[in-house]
Amino acid sequence: MRLVRLPGVFPPHSDSQLLARTLARRVTRRDSVLDLCCGSGVLAVTAARAGADSVTAVDVSRRAVACTRINAVLNGTRVRALRGDLFAPVAGERFDLIVTNPPYVPGSTNPSHATGPARAWEGGAAGRALIDRICEDIVPHLRPGGRLLMVQSSVNSRERTEALLEDEGLEVNVVDSSRGEYGALLSARAPELERSGLISPGERVEDMLVVEAIR
Ligand SMILES: C[S@@+](CC[C@H](N)C(=O)[O-])C[C@H]1O[C@@H](n2cnc3c(N)ncnc32)[C@H](O)[C@@H]1O
Repeated sequence: MRLVRLPGVFPPHSDSQLLARTLARRVTRRDSVLDLCCGSGVLAVTAARAGADSVTAVDVSRRAVACTRINAVLNGTRVRALRGDLFAPVAGERFDLIVTNPPYVPGSTNPSHATGPARAWEGGAAGRALIDRICEDIVPHLRPGGRLLMVQSSVNSRERTEALLEDEGLEVNVVDSSRGEYGALLSARAPELERSGLISPGERVEDMLVVEAIR
């Protein structure tokens, strides 16, 4: 895949790559796909290259939307890229597969006050501000049998994600994961997260989890 990245747009990390691998294995030619929080468009382009019937991508950042459009063309794919807050640009629309790598790094910044590149990672106190909204708002955007593929960290509480999605009537499983040391940002915040009780003292390893939820 050829990817360019405009200044300020999130460069795909190991979590993006983990999710892209799962996505490529699971997308089918019948699927209408929504990539929420698309950044460079790496997941949208992955879905389109894997043969999805149609692909829509949404991001709150103008540059991310422009970058996704460029990367779609560079890879000979068609992606409808829209700017806006989570599901707002696709109000009333339903999809077979929704894929998302939302901001999920815990910290004291309120994500709705984050600006510039920080919008890609600021997830609020427990890193769940966007995750919770996605879990609570997803069902009307899934066709019957439709599914969510979302990546998050074990630091964000896998149990809470499972509980929220199950409350919405979805069947939930963790379908892929990878373990690694905290990245630079999470390491820098670890003492503060220990004090708030979000992580245990000395905890510096996280699991990246790909959560699948089926309607
Ligand atoms: C972690 S990056 C993921 C980018 C890309 N999907 C990837 O995996 O490399 C999160 C993205 O979410 C976007 N974002 C943050 N808040 C958003 C919101 N409220 N609605 C839509 N997109 C949002 C950011 O601009 C950023 O591009």
